[in-house]
Amino acid sequence: MSNKVYIETYGCQMNVADTELVMGILKKNGYELTKLADEANVVLLNTCSVRENAEQRIYGRLGNFKNMKESKPDLVVGILGCMAERLRRDLVEDKKIVDVVVGPDEYRHLPELIDVAFGGGKGIGVRLSRTETYDDIIPYREDGLQAWISVMRGCDKFCTFCVVPFTRGRERSRTLSSVVEEIKQLSMRGFREVTLLGQNVNSYLDNENDFADLLAASAKVDSRIRIRFTTSHPQDLSEKLLYTIAEHSNICNYIHLPVQSGSDRILKMMNRTYNIKHYLGLIEKAKRIIPGVSFSTDIISGFPTETYEDHVMTLDVMRQVRYDGAYMFKYSPREGTKAYKMEDDVSEEIKTKRLQEIIELQQQISFEKNQELVDKEEIILVEGKSRKSDQFLSGRTDTNKVVIVPGTDNIKEGDFIKVKINRATSATLFGDFVEFVFPEDNEIALTA
Ligand code: SAH
Ligand code: SF4
Ligand code: F3S
Repeated sequence: MSNKVYIETYGCQMNVADTELVMGILKKNGYELTKLADEANVVLLNTCSVRENAEQRIYGRLGNFKNMKESKPDLVVGILGCMAERLRRDLVEDKKIVDVVVGPDEYRHLPELIDVAFGGGKGIGVRLSRTETYDDIIPYREDGLQAWISVMRGCDKFCTFCVVPFTRGRERSRTLSSVVEEIKQLSMRGFREVTLLGQNVNSYLDNENDFADLLAASAKVDSRIRIRFTTSHPQDLSEKLLYTIAEHSNICNYIHLPVQSGSDRILKMMNRTYNIKHYLGLIEKAKRIIPGVSFSTDIISGFPTETYEDHVMTLDVMRQVRYDGAYMFKYSPREGTKAYKMEDDVSEEIKTKRLQEIIELQQQISFEKNQELVDKEEIILVEGKSRKSDQFLSGRTDTNKVVIVPGTDNIKEGDFIKVKINRATSATLFGDFVEFVFPEDNEIALTA
């Protein structure tokens, strides 16, 4: 009987992509995948360390598996991902139920390490690598429309609050040809959207090919595949990249450009290596080069020494840029980072209050920006039925906004359609079908 493995994934999209790699590796080694923890004899948690509450949640989940293990003593429980790297052997010692601890650069050895656990030992692989990119490994993906592809691993930026450089190691890029090949495979399987991933995609480099070259090559594979990418660090967003986005209609006009704070003093303490003038300059340049471009961001409230004035500067930047969306967090001290040595002197109460103001402002901006789209036309990729009703379809614009349209017999999942927006909330747009973007795909449906 073959072994059955169950995996749960936490954290960023890079972890989602890594889980697919891990599933590819395990399947090749004879494992069956299951979506039910109860039927598995190997349970893996692919974990995140970015904030304290992410780790707490995973510790809570480990408690559940402890109970399972009591009734099923042969069950192998493993921790993968960033927590594995950060806590290493402590996990095996503190949490006696953990049998396998494997960090992001050692997934190739996972089958052997699980075997060690089956033999009664502890399977530990937490070395970071300067070269591992898993270029040759085919991730396991279910059929669908949307895929994530990691194009680089690690981060060399060392923002003072962040654990990622410690949990993911140094930056290294996959070859352009392997990424293009993967997109070709996805195109043959009918995928319609690919997101190129890296903690800092703008420092992608494969010999003379930079990230703009990779984007252009990816866009050329199939004009019916939309290309997204994340994350861009404001320091290295090049003009060449902006022109590349502008030139290719299937590269989304959408840039995730985390600002973190609106205060130059705080940015300096965060080691973000840009100031607000530079940041706003980039936004202006992008708006000029890419008509209709939109932005999203990440913001941290309550970094050490943050004053009310610093906080107001963050609100100001949000008003100036008018982001389409934002991921907003309270500062969470992480052991081993530079900021950890600074006093976490903004009280929980003030962090919460400032975060709340940031969230409210973003909701207001999102609402206003969505109202501006009423009566305008947008192209959406139809992703399926709307969650609330079978009569409606749901899709997303290239700026990543959800649009709901009435369904008809001839509109299918995976179609690109032009819609006219008729109403909007802060989170959702509502529209009506105008026409197919690639009508030849729907000729059969139309004449039937
Ligand atoms: N590489 C990406 C971000 C990866 S982590 C980038 O540079 O933008 C995602 C986000 O989590 C960060 O942008 C930051 O806003 C937030 N974050 C990271 N460490 C944090 C911490 N210690 N406390 C609170 N938020 C944090
Ligand atoms: Fe963390 Fe900064 Fe690297 Fe992003 S760029 S992963 S925030 S160190
Ligand atoms: Fe979390 Fe690691 Fe991603 S810390 S955000 S899973 S890189």
